[in-house]
Amino acid sequence: MAPRKLAAGNWKMNGTLASLAEIDRLLADHPASGCDVLICPPATLIQAMAAKGIATGGQDCHAKASGAHTGDIAAQQLKDVGASHVILGHSERRTDHGETDAQVAAKSVAAHEAGLVAVICVGETEAQRDAGETLDVIAAQLAGSVPDGATAANTVIAYEPVWAIGTGRTPTSDQIAEVHALMHERLSARFADGADMALLYGGSVKPGNAAEVFAIPHVNGALVGGASLKAADFGPIIAALSAA
Ligand code: PGA
Repeated sequence: MAPRKLAAGNWKMNGTLASLAEIDRLLADHPASGCDVLICPPATLIQAMAAKGIATGGQDCHAKASGAHTGDIAAQQLKDVGASHVILGHSERRTDHGETDAQVAAKSVAAHEAGLVAVICVGETEAQRDAGETLDVIAAQLAGSVPDGATAANTVIAYEPVWAIGTGRTPTSDQIAEVHALMHERLSARFADGADMALLYGGSVKPGNAAEVFAIPHVNGALVGGASLKAADFGPIIAALSAA
């Protein structure tokens, strides 16, 4: 079974109720036929977005099911308002909040227990790439961040080079291919259905480079930040993935 294709949008800390008009536009103008589509908006918008009938996800969750953790959200609470997925270990969480691989793995277990698909992010910094450490960094993040209970049904992996996020810079197709081949190999070796786990690329995916990215072996979709905010940008990316 080939991995399912997924176009995932990460709205980060952008958007208010008025932004839901973009979802109406997306559903009206760009009906996805050949791939799954997911938007991960700020938590404040999850319930209203899910009610529109589009797959919706959180951007983080706590490892615990409930308790005295001011400002945090439990995986069950995301599920309760209609989320089906949650992004975990995004580089902005790793940088801004010091999240470690072990914490990402614990959050992923919580997501799985709540019935959410964990979209687990990995990626090297520019200094690590310059030092020739990219494949070692990705292998270590995969080993540490993806929990033993991961399956192709409950886990998606996103390769997001930190230096490509929000910068307009993207790796070459060969550089993406090299990392995705490594991820495919490691996940296949570790998990019974690891070969079927969807592998996304993320980092400055735009309408203009989407088709090239989706032609790379073992790239099953994208995690899209800035270009997911507007239907006019995200729609063509969905179309490119559907056609890939
Ligand atoms: P970008 O962000 O598409 O704006 O580069 C990607 C991400 O951080 O998921």
